[in-house]
Amino acid sequence: MRILLLGKNGQLGWELHRTLQPLGKVFAVDYPEIDLTSPDSINKTVQEYQPELIINAAAYTDVDRAESEPEIARAVNGLAPGMLAEQAKTLGSALIHYSTDYVFDGKKGNPYIETDRPNPINVYGRSKLAGEHAVTKVGDVYLILRTSWVYSLRRNSFVTKVLRWSRQQKTLRIVSDQIGSPTWARMLAEITAQILAKAGGDVVHWIDDHKGIYHLAGNGHVSRLEWTQVILHYDPQKEDQITQETQPALTKVFPTPAQRPLFSALDCEHFKKIFDMRLPDWKKTLQLAMESE
Ligand SMILES: NC(=O)c1ccc[n+]([C@@H]2O[C@H](COP(=O)([O-])OP(=O)(O)OC[C@H]3O[C@@H](n4cnc5c(N)ncnc54)[C@H](OP(=O)(O)O)[C@@H]3O)[C@@H](O)[C@H]2O)c1
Repeated sequence: MRILLLGKNGQLGWELHRTLQPLGKVFAVDYPEIDLTSPDSINKTVQEYQPELIINAAAYTDVDRAESEPEIARAVNGLAPGMLAEQAKTLGSALIHYSTDYVFDGKKGNPYIETDRPNPINVYGRSKLAGEHAVTKVGDVYLILRTSWVYSLRRNSFVTKVLRWSRQQKTLRIVSDQIGSPTWARMLAEITAQILAKAGGDVVHWIDDHKGIYHLAGNGHVSRLEWTQVILHYDPQKEDQITQETQPALTKVFPTPAQRPLFSALDCEHFKKIFDMRLPDWKKTLQLAMESE
């Protein structure tokens, strides 16, 4: 199978580049080799590699910066996925695309299911929702995997920030009213590869049979404060920490350019039912992540 992977240097893309290797010939690209703001660049890249499967792990993910660069966010997250879906359709290929919990407004109060109505409250969320619509409008052979609170230990993420702060600050004040499902990029890449392995030889037909939007995040949910405490607990170099206490804070005390949904945990039961697989508990996964790098 010829796989075109976009976003190979990102948290998820970097992991996918490795986990996809046994499945076929992987052509991995990132900016500036491909520029998702440019339709010519998208079309040229897809035509060059003629993939049977396109996996789009590229995105404009800076939630705060998106507020001042809405056109770029919309081009990368909202328009490019539709162009990729069109290209996949022309080639008779399949598309796997990732979306976000931030398509929701966070007001539901319990985990979101796929049929809940999206209502994004920031530019990033609106751009990602536009991307979902663009893919489903083409309506050909696709999976959209909505994930949340993605982290890796090799790129700047909430986990690496907490580790950095713990070496610099005696007291950490962390928001306790944002609740979500932390997802290790490596596990997300592995489960993506595993569902593809299930497809056997005919990935395009198999994805066609399973096409749709799925929630796929670490099992369970947690506040950012509790997540921080567990990161500090599993830190393999605890002796470097100078943090002595963590204190709860409210989101409104830390104003940011983008508003964030307060409760954006995802219910992943549908994915489990269809694919007979799930991502493990977020805490167990975090422990594995901290032990592995
Ligand atoms: N991070 C999260 O917490 C989170 C939460 C929910 C859903 N998701 C979704 O999960 C997927 C993977 O996220 P991630 O955290 O792995 O993202 P990431 O680490 O930010 O990686 C995204 C990649 O896309 C590239 N990119 C950005 N603009 C581009 C452009 N114009 N043309 C080509 N490539 C471009 C980035 O390059 P540069 O680094 O050079 O910009 C980067 O390599 C995305 O669809 C994201 O929306 C992420």
